[in-house]
Amino acid sequence: METKTTVIPQEALQQQLAVCGQIRAYWSSRTITPRAYVETYGCQQNEADSERLRGLLSESGYAITDTAEGADVVIMNTCAIREHAEQRVFGNLGALTHTKRRHPEQKIFLCGCMAGQEQVVDRIKKSYPHVDGVFSTHHLWQFPQLLHQVLSTGKRTYFTEDEPGSIAEGLPQLRDNKLKAWVSIMYGCNNFCTYCIVPYVRGRERSRKSEDILHECRTLIENGVKDITLLGQNVNSYGKDLDEGIDFSDLLAKIAQLPSTFLVRFMTSHPRDASKKLFDTMAAYPKIAKQLHLPFQSGSSRVLKAMNRHYDREKYLETIRYAKSLMPELVLTSDVIVGFPGETEAEFEETISLIREVRYDSLFTFIFSPRAGTPAASMPDPTSKEEKNRRFDRLCAVQNGISEEIHNAYIGKTMLCLIDGVDKEQLTARTEGGRLVRLSGPESLVGTFAQIKITGASTWSLTGELSKQ
Ligand code: SAH
Ligand code: SF4
Ligand code: F3S
Repeated sequence: METKTTVIPQEALQQQLAVCGQIRAYWSSRTITPRAYVETYGCQQNEADSERLRGLLSESGYAITDTAEGADVVIMNTCAIREHAEQRVFGNLGALTHTKRRHPEQKIFLCGCMAGQEQVVDRIKKSYPHVDGVFSTHHLWQFPQLLHQVLSTGKRTYFTEDEPGSIAEGLPQLRDNKLKAWVSIMYGCNNFCTYCIVPYVRGRERSRKSEDILHECRTLIENGVKDITLLGQNVNSYGKDLDEGIDFSDLLAKIAQLPSTFLVRFMTSHPRDASKKLFDTMAAYPKIAKQLHLPFQSGSSRVLKAMNRHYDREKYLETIRYAKSLMPELVLTSDVIVGFPGETEAEFEETISLIREVRYDSLFTFIFSPRAGTPAASMPDPTSKEEKNRRFDRLCAVQNGISEEIHNAYIGKTMLCLIDGVDKEQLTARTEGGRLVRLSGPESLVGTFAQIKITGASTWSLTGELSKQ
């Protein structure tokens, strides 16, 4: 399937930035510094989008706050991946009626993946009259225009027209962290796993030009960033829609050759496209973190086929074996779904045996949640909720045992870690594989890499001390 990536013209983006200027002028004529609050749900893609929204708000004169109380603009950047995620948003959205009552000028917006679903937009229109505007991910770059329209007309406004998707380069981004940065390398997804809503709400796969990505990484590193995570729903298909003749491994190698001390990592890889070339590249460059998040979803080949994942159990295990043979120290994490429609007890046991064989550092575990409009939502699903919960608990118990064993094995090792912050009067650091380490030491070390000796472990974090050597 050939898709040609649409890039939003620079003039159109400049117009949006000009609207930011108008909004800023409006507030300064009232001698008010307005405040804005952005609440983020879901994955790193949304975190990165929220940084862009804060960038646009800041350009428009808003000070960013960490509470909806008293804020002039509130944006809920939402996730649609499971029903539970949506319920939380509806609950918190309802609670905003109170903040708006106390501050009637408050303008409330809903965006993100839920805004890409027609039934959600209808529900907001009908039942949440205090929401002033809704915009889907395709329209994020037009947020200044939407905000301006709401401020000047007072009318509820919707930018939710569906599109295959485009790329907006050069949006201002207000980053949360000075040491770690998300860099989106592509947007959307073409995989249509049968349970998943993402391709419907985020559109088709489209890659940013490699020179734009390299420029962004170079600038971040020059500004002191030490840890870059490349983002995409399926980073391995990076470049397929470009005519640059570049694939994800090539891009990774280019980034890993930038000067200065830093680490680059990525998520998410799809096992279907995780090539030997990718692992050869990871092994070849010290600046590529030896960490891999490779969702397997199920240990049963029959279930994987029903999920439309395009690999089977054996191919997945082969991929892992190859990666580990090159990088024995590789830290592995994954996503898994329990209770996919029709999953039998024996198929669930195959998932258990797979996690025992691979031995992940940690796992993100989910119970299947039917999403309207996806094929899996209408598959026969005879397994009871109680049974699914039982499987889920068993899976977590087995994984917690494995995580604990792996973490105990860190004790006594000395590892190069990035000291990334202070929490409860202790320093926090991250191993190359992304594990949290707590230790004592001077705050001046924040932002540096240091050798840390691991002295203790629990399921979720490690403790350590600065190595004397
Ligand atoms: N693009 C990534 C995953 C993004 S969604 C990938 O393909 O690996 C993150 C995780 O949510 C998925 O890996 C899957 O495990 C889980 N998930 C997605 N849809 C789900 C659903 N309908 N029910 C339960 N879990 C789901
Ligand atoms: Fe969803 Fe599959 Fe795409 Fe991941 S690869 S976002 S699970 S459709
Ligand atoms: Fe959720 Fe959208 Fe991410 S559905 S997991 S926020 S891509």
